[in-house]
Amino acid sequence: MAAQTRRTGSRHRRPHRVLIFVGPLILLPLCVLGILNYGQKISYFLRPIWDTPPATFKRIPHYYAENVSVDHLCSLHGWSKLARPRRIYDAIIFSNEVDLLDIRWHELYPLVTKFIVLEANTTFTGKPKPLLFALNQDRFAFARSKIVSGVFPGRIAKSGSYEDPFQLESEQRIAMNALIRRSGISNGDMLIMSDTDEIPSLNTLRLLQWCDGVPPVLHLELRHYMYSFEFSVDYSSWRATTHIFGPQTRYRHSRQTDLIFSDAGWHCSFCFRRIDDFVLKMTGYSHADRVRREEFLSHKRIQNLICRGEDLFDMLPEEYTFQELIKKLGPIPRSTSAVHLPAYLLENADKFRFLLPGGCQRGR
Ligand SMILES: *[C@@H]1O[C@H](CO)[C@@H](O)[C@H](O)[C@H]1NC(C)=O
Ligand SMILES: *[C@@H]1O[C@H](CO)[C@@H](O)[C@H](O)[C@H]1NC(C)=O
Repeated sequence: MAAQTRRTGSRHRRPHRVLIFVGPLILLPLCVLGILNYGQKISYFLRPIWDTPPATFKRIPHYYAENVSVDHLCSLHGWSKLARPRRIYDAIIFSNEVDLLDIRWHELYPLVTKFIVLEANTTFTGKPKPLLFALNQDRFAFARSKIVSGVFPGRIAKSGSYEDPFQLESEQRIAMNALIRRSGISNGDMLIMSDTDEIPSLNTLRLLQWCDGVPPVLHLELRHYMYSFEFSVDYSSWRATTHIFGPQTRYRHSRQTDLIFSDAGWHCSFCFRRIDDFVLKMTGYSHADRVRREEFLSHKRIQNLICRGEDLFDMLPEEYTFQELIKKLGPIPRSTSAVHLPAYLLENADKFRFLLPGGCQRGR
């Protein structure tokens, strides 16, 4: 039997040989095409092998229920209550999140002393950008007496190229330090450093402003949403921080300490009312290189992805273990919960339908 098979095999040796030569000629370009097209996917899928996860945070448990006194809440955290609350300054670098700014400032208004907002007239990638904060003054008139605003003169990139977004971003943080010092902040006040779409909850801030013993620098662990509060991704958002202000305090949006305060608010990414705002953000932010094909910016494609809870850049989740990665493959599951969201959002549900369950259709 074996000999016979071998003989049959040898009879086919000729075409085999041809395959040995032609095969690679066909396969090689296919591989190259595959790697060009899917290289990023392959590399993201293998992230658990080539990347090490960021050092883990030490989570501070967070206690809160309606109507429990601040006194008691402070003591549950091992802190004591101050005689007077700290003043709070909220500093953001604004791009084009007009609706989230509206929700943010209404949420924080009762406790914040000054809203510090810096807006650039270009995107981080060096494209001209209308001064959307300045153009929407009317919507923010309710907070006028608390606003300290500044404009950052950006640079326009030569046509066909990008400015280095991380360079422009870091220059804006320096300009932000100057603006903060002009706001009237004093040592011992509380300063929030976050993006517009990273919104601490009111009860978190009340606790941090009233309790003695709060760490001087604290990350805020925020519930992460994508496109609206209908698509709840996970708890992974950590970049927002609170600082007890001192001479060394500098505006940053990166890892600053190992401590993180649990369940401290919301981070709603790409939560825009109009598709044009998605396009502006996709081409203007620090990861604009993720727009790998012109079709990524097609309105129809973006609208479909929003309603399906799928990724705008056709990317895999950034995870550091295969278990987490596989758990998160595929679209973000839809949620029908609109519980524990910013109060102003629910009080004005008609105005913000697009952020609530069932509201995925956007205007241009
Ligand atoms: C919370 O406290 C207020 C005032 O003390 C009271 O009127 C209200 O019924 C309380 N709510 C709950 C849920 O206990
Ligand atoms: C941005 O502002 C600066 C300073 O006002 C100005 O010189 C520059 O032309 C502006 N750029 C754009 C794109 O509007």
